[in-house]
Amino acid sequence: MRRAVYAGTFDPFTNGHLDIVERALKIFDEVTILVAVSPSKKPFLEKDKRVELLESLFKNEQKVKVDSWGGLIVEYARQNNINSIVRGLRPTGDFEIEFQMASMNRKINHDCDTVFLMTSEKLYYISSSLVKEVFNHGGDISPFVPTIVLDEMLKSRG
Ligand code: COA
Repeated sequence: MRRAVYAGTFDPFTNGHLDIVERALKIFDEVTILVAVSPSKKPFLEKDKRVELLESLFKNEQKVKVDSWGGLIVEYARQNNINSIVRGLRPTGDFEIEFQMASMNRKINHDCDTVFLMTSEKLYYISSSLVKEVFNHGGDISPFVPTIVLDEMLKSRG
């Protein structure tokens, strides 16, 4: 069984993230989307809400699991018998930090390696912060997030 973990704050989960998950599913038998707690990022959507949204989004996809975690990704991987970390790589300066993180992760857990997927050329400019900025200024974010995420964000704004 080829298992991978795809971790992130996912505040919110965007179409860029969705693209990475869909492509990872072609490589792995099971992909766990791991919602990182990331309190320093002061999330717009609560962790449990982000988990709930992902569970709904992937309810018909048997190969996707959703979980949350406040520790190291490699420790989650170790405890759950996962050997790969999936990361999306955008042409906007991700490489250096990703190289450093992958090296550190492999040092901590030799059994776990990182697999990089190049972000789609149509979505590379998206980030969760930018999506929130557009949203907070009343802009249309429907091209950037799944509908279920958009609906939740509109509800949270009241
Ligand atoms: N499409 C769209 N946006 C993308 C993207 C893609 N394919 N890939 C990344 N992004 C965005 C993210 O939404 C995020 O946006 P934001 O900073 O505006 O919120 C940004 O790019 C950075 O993404 P990422 O590097 O995945 O950051 P993150 O905060 O979402 O999660 C973790 C980073 C997963 C490493 C971190 O939160 C975590 O889990 N840490 C646990 C501790 C750990 O193991 N650290 C590593 C030690 S070496």
